[in-house]
Amino acid sequence: MKHLENKVVIITGAAMGLGLATAKELASKGINLTLVDYNEKGLAEAKAEINEDFPLVKIHTVVADVSNEEAVKNYVTETVKTFGRIDGLYNNAGIEGKQASITEYDINIFKKVIDINLMGVYYGMRYVIPVMQKQKHGRIVNVASVGGIRGVLNQVPYVASKHAVSGMTKNAALEYGRDGINTNAIAPGAILTPMVAEAFKQVNPEDPKAAETEYAQRNPAKRLGLPNEVANVVAFLLSEEASYVNGQTIAIDGGESNIYGNV
Ligand SMILES: NC(=O)c1ccc[n+]([C@@H]2O[C@H](COP(=O)([O-])OP(=O)(O)OC[C@H]3O[C@@H](n4cnc5c(N)ncnc54)[C@H](O)[C@@H]3O)[C@@H](O)[C@H]2O)c1
Repeated sequence: MKHLENKVVIITGAAMGLGLATAKELASKGINLTLVDYNEKGLAEAKAEINEDFPLVKIHTVVADVSNEEAVKNYVTETVKTFGRIDGLYNNAGIEGKQASITEYDINIFKKVIDINLMGVYYGMRYVIPVMQKQKHGRIVNVASVGGIRGVLNQVPYVASKHAVSGMTKNAALEYGRDGINTNAIAPGAILTPMVAEAFKQVNPEDPKAAETEYAQRNPAKRLGLPNEVANVVAFLLSEEASYVNGQTIAIDGGESNIYGNV
């Protein structure tokens, strides 16, 4: 993706899954990175893995829980101190919670999902946007989900939080488009990451692979997505080429969110 060289992007939830895949994609384009995660060991491993392939890319790691406002302030301050600017924020850290019906949902888990998926994304925007306003330029990609545009059985806080991410994305577009800041969201379907592997374990603890195969049959592509298929879209949205895309929630799901009836 052109025009990304010498830029600086913050990625939250960068130790594995979609965050790590996007970190590798951006590193391959020469982007310098601040990688944020609350998994300290995973974060160090991610940095080492990326630097092995892309030794010239500068990577700053910050251990932070995105649901902690002070920790978010700190990853923003650290990035500005290290690189002097922030061109992009990939607001990706999130959790699924446990699966249970609305009436049986554990309230503490509900609150935790909202704290991380909704408040974490909000804090990220809140503290990165002033830096981007001064630059008169910035790109934000918030991670929603198909659960941000559809209901998902037994995942009420996840669905609530991801609809909120899509809503906050629209607001950010309205409020900061004039400052040269474009904010979009992505809505991945089932992408093969550790989070999704865990979900299939919950659906069928005896045979998670069978749950995965069955799930894939509902998708027009008849397969799950791969992390790099998400990373490609994120890299585009973070680039200059997406200069007139603002406030959108883009499904990356093989077409699954369009289904009505059988495929
Ligand atoms: N994988 C999918 O199919 C899928 C589909 C739709 C949406 N998503 C969303 O994509 C994002 C990434 O998902 P994934 O599948 O890569 O998950 P994952 O569990 O594989 O990785 C998530 C990463 O985020 C980190 N993290 C979680 N909570 C954090 C917190 N409070 N502070 C800092 N780091 C935190 C974890 O340590 C981990 O490294 C999430 O927001 C998820 O809801 C994923």
